[in-house]
Amino acid sequence: MKKSGRKEKRKNDNIYAIENVYEECKKILKKSKLVKHVEKIKLETPKERINADLAIPCFSLSKKPIELALKLAEFFNKYKGKRLIKKAEAIGPYLNLQINYENFAKNVIEDVIKMQEYYGARNEGGGKIVIIDYSSPNVAKPMSIAHLRSTIIGQSLYNILTFLGYRCIGDNHLGDIGTQFGKLIVAYKLWGNKDRVEKEPIKELMNLYVRFHRESNERLEELARDYSKKMEEGDEEALAIWKWIVDLSKKEFNKIYEMLRIKFDLELGESFYLSMTKEVIEDAIRKGIAKESENALVIEFEDMPSLLIQRSDKGSLYQTRDLATIKYRKKRFDFYKCLYVVGSEQKLYFKQLFKAAEMLGYIKKDECVHVDFGLMRLKEGKLSTREGRVILLEDLIKNAIELSKSLIKEAKNEEEKDEIAKKVGIGAIIFNDLKEDRIKDVVFDWEKALSMEGDSCPYVQYACVRAKSIIEKYGREISAKGLKFKNLEEEEKLLIRRIADFPKIILIAANSYKPHYIAQYLLDVADAFNKFYEKHKVIGSEKEKERVAIVKAAYITLKVGLKLLNIELPEKM
Ligand code: ARG
Repeated sequence: MKKSGRKEKRKNDNIYAIENVYEECKKILKKSKLVKHVEKIKLETPKERINADLAIPCFSLSKKPIELALKLAEFFNKYKGKRLIKKAEAIGPYLNLQINYENFAKNVIEDVIKMQEYYGARNEGGGKIVIIDYSSPNVAKPMSIAHLRSTIIGQSLYNILTFLGYRCIGDNHLGDIGTQFGKLIVAYKLWGNKDRVEKEPIKELMNLYVRFHRESNERLEELARDYSKKMEEGDEEALAIWKWIVDLSKKEFNKIYEMLRIKFDLELGESFYLSMTKEVIEDAIRKGIAKESENALVIEFEDMPSLLIQRSDKGSLYQTRDLATIKYRKKRFDFYKCLYVVGSEQKLYFKQLFKAAEMLGYIKKDECVHVDFGLMRLKEGKLSTREGRVILLEDLIKNAIELSKSLIKEAKNEEEKDEIAKKVGIGAIIFNDLKEDRIKDVVFDWEKALSMEGDSCPYVQYACVRAKSIIEKYGREISAKGLKFKNLEEEEKLLIRRIADFPKIILIAANSYKPHYIAQYLLDVADAFNKFYEKHKVIGSEKEKERVAIVKAAYITLKVGLKLLNIELPEKM
């Protein structure tokens, strides 16, 4: 029984070439009997100027690391069963290893050609359910740049985790309830015009919202509060206006989702949970964690400010709806993780929320994760809704598409150019967002994002298009059979090494919920590909078969990587 179980696991879990190298190292280390706890040993990739493919630092392995490195090097070099390691050398306290590229390259190319668009995939997740709460804009307001970031990061995590065998459920947790609705309904009833709103919903609703704030006084605020309450109590007129606004907003959001190719599995919205908030309050009271404070209820923590869960006027709250959401999600999906892709300004809030959910017994520690991110600014400055000084995202995206047209040289006609520009422009926006660690602030700089040379999407796309054209020119089937990777050039080795790293990089990105590891990696692959291609002839060279296979592997790797970031590849550029 046990044996076949293990075999089954092997079959599902792809082991890629680079991992075979690690395994071989560990096997030899074990045989040497010179070190304990081999499983815990870290293999490093040395800096490029060091003449080694892998290194094992020996400091923590022995009190005499220099001696140990020497002994290990001797053992490695004498060891007969080496296949993927070629040579070892002790440099001070480091054991430096060189890969046997003849075998390694073959393994890498075989991996890629065999797996094709699944290169790097594995069954790490084993079907475990991950809910991803992303995008989640607020109805009747334009989608902000922060929501754009959430959308882009969230969709990419969805793709990456799915690729690793998790079952992802994307939920657009729309802000479709709250005090802004009361205000909006009042403003609409006072100054609104149906046709105008239907023609340009977001703009018009924004104007109404801004006007409400400009003319705000006690009476208006009072009216707005009344309408908010009416809605929660199910008043028909208020609900009808509300539903109309929600539908109009969704239509606007969908335009952006379509352009960016965003898909959700659920779009329940906050209002869906309204009726469940009562249960949350009851749970909190029953558990004895609800403290009364000036007619309101709060949950207190040892090390954070307390969380209000019921207002004195009994009106519903964002956080109470969020607690109800957690309870509902856990019950319906029994998720393994629930990720909240929301800006860093809600950091404290999510700490409080998750802790409260734990105290309520809804989840265990670390089951909910705040995947936070920094601000995005346009180079021209910050944007705010209140002042009405907004750049609509739709315009931002359209502008990127328009500007990217100047990069396109190979289009047959205008129609084709438009098609390509869409993929380049949108790719540029996505890549610009994903290329740095999400917790950092990003600046959107048109020139940089749309540059053909820099750390940009067009740069990666272009390398990929180039690789594809070589494959097409070759015109025959490319297989990994019978290839011989003798005496590889430095550029070939580097490119192969890069390609081999892909499966590992995907894991790192997935486990840290940080797609930038993949974006940065793609820049490295594109770099390595360009260096290789600029220096070596592919078609018509003596090593044509091998080189075309390397090109194909690079192409597949870049393409899969872009796909994980939700970026499309144009046919030409
Ligand atoms: N609509 C919220 C906002 O714009 C984000 C919601 C995030 N998701 C959640 N479950 N709280 O700030």
